[in-house]
Amino acid sequence: MKKESVVKVVALSKIFKDFWGRAKAKAVNDIDFEVRDGEVFGLLGPNGSGKSTIIKMLLGLLYPSIGKISVFDHSPDDVRTKKRIGYLPEESYLYKYLTAEETLDFFGALFSLSQAERKNRASQLLEMVGLTHAAKRQVGEFSKGMQRRIGLAQAMINDPDLLILDEPTSGLDPLGCREIKDLILFLKSRGKTVIVSSHLLADVEDICDRVIILYGGKIRACGTLDELLTVSGESRITMPSLGAKETERLLKILRENLTGDSFSVDHPKRSLEDFFLDVVQKARSESIETFGASGGGNIANYLTEGSDKNILDALSRQKTEAAVSAQKNKDESSATEGEAKKTDEKLKNLGLEKETTGLGEDLKGGGAKEDLSSQFNEADRKLSELLKNEK
Ligand SMILES: Nc1ncnc2c1ncn2[C@@H]1O[C@H](COP(=O)(O)OP(=O)(O)OP(=O)(O)O)[C@@H](O)[C@H]1O
Ligand SMILES: [Mg+2]
Repeated sequence: MKKESVVKVVALSKIFKDFWGRAKAKAVNDIDFEVRDGEVFGLLGPNGSGKSTIIKMLLGLLYPSIGKISVFDHSPDDVRTKKRIGYLPEESYLYKYLTAEETLDFFGALFSLSQAERKNRASQLLEMVGLTHAAKRQVGEFSKGMQRRIGLAQAMINDPDLLILDEPTSGLDPLGCREIKDLILFLKSRGKTVIVSSHLLADVEDICDRVIILYGGKIRACGTLDELLTVSGESRITMPSLGAKETERLLKILRENLTGDSFSVDHPKRSLEDFFLDVVQKARSESIETFGASGGGNIANYLTEGSDKNILDALSRQKTEAAVSAQKNKDESSATEGEAKKTDEKLKNLGLEKETTGLGEDLKGGGAKEDLSSQFNEADRKLSELLKNEK
């Protein structure tokens, strides 16, 4: 079922003019796109490709030169629309003499939240973005990453249905970047729609449902990441690591049965992000001190009200952390039997029992090599049969 569209943009152009009314820059050039309810939509493109200009038009901060925009079926200027949007600008616009707490209170007041509600949301949001310890510090003193975090907290003070985040990960370390991405995925799981712009592709690659790629104000590519990134002319098989002899045998079968000579075998690599996060996680567990932003905390309660707890569990970071700590507990010799039982239950609740058991068995070694060899023979037979049938 096609989801209802939250944003509709038709034949949109923006031409910046100089004092004499002459065209200075065609920032956006005749584009059409729609953003559907509940998706994470990426506006990607190099510097100056028109991302921020589009965002400002969606917010009613700039008027289109040509074309039409509707947000929640109204004009971007409509007050009903504005109430449902949270916005993180690319540049910090915060009042530098206000503390983090006062900043959130100020923006809460703009949305007519009661004083008690503002206080409650501010403290939850500060914890969520990892700034509780800096609540009483003026935001003018904040590092770039800390400013991004308080900006994000501000964008969520009104519990918006649509979040528009202009370069949300700029200035953040990989850990902060991962946290923001997890947060965006969480907001999506709560039914929010998120538009996120970036020129750092790796920062948004694993969160966007659909993207448009802009260049010179025009859309050059549009689609889901699968549609845009799958290399359809090649196949990849992932299997347990093979020895030199087995690799040679496999390549031989492939060469005999397929045309072309572009066969290769290598080992899958972890992403640098995953590796980095592991290193930092380890440093944290050794309690090495840092004076910057601490890791984010729990998702603000008011954003999760009425939510199924499983949604939270689905957040991969939390899931992994729980699994790691549960496994650690399990391994500790001092753990009592009762504790071990509790750990198993925790894993079971998270649906991780199988995963971790599988890992343990992989590490057991022993008969694994023989198993691999017989599996390989079986795979060899099946592959030959398959290729024969295909011919
Ligand atoms: N107020 C303005 N007056 C004149 N030209 C402008 C104005 N704002 C943007 N432009 C021009 O419009 C084009 C698109 O700018 P925009 O800020 O939308 O790019 P962007 O994709 O957000 O880039 P970045 O990744 O650097 O943030 C650029 O050529 C820019 O110089
Ligand atoms: Mg920009």
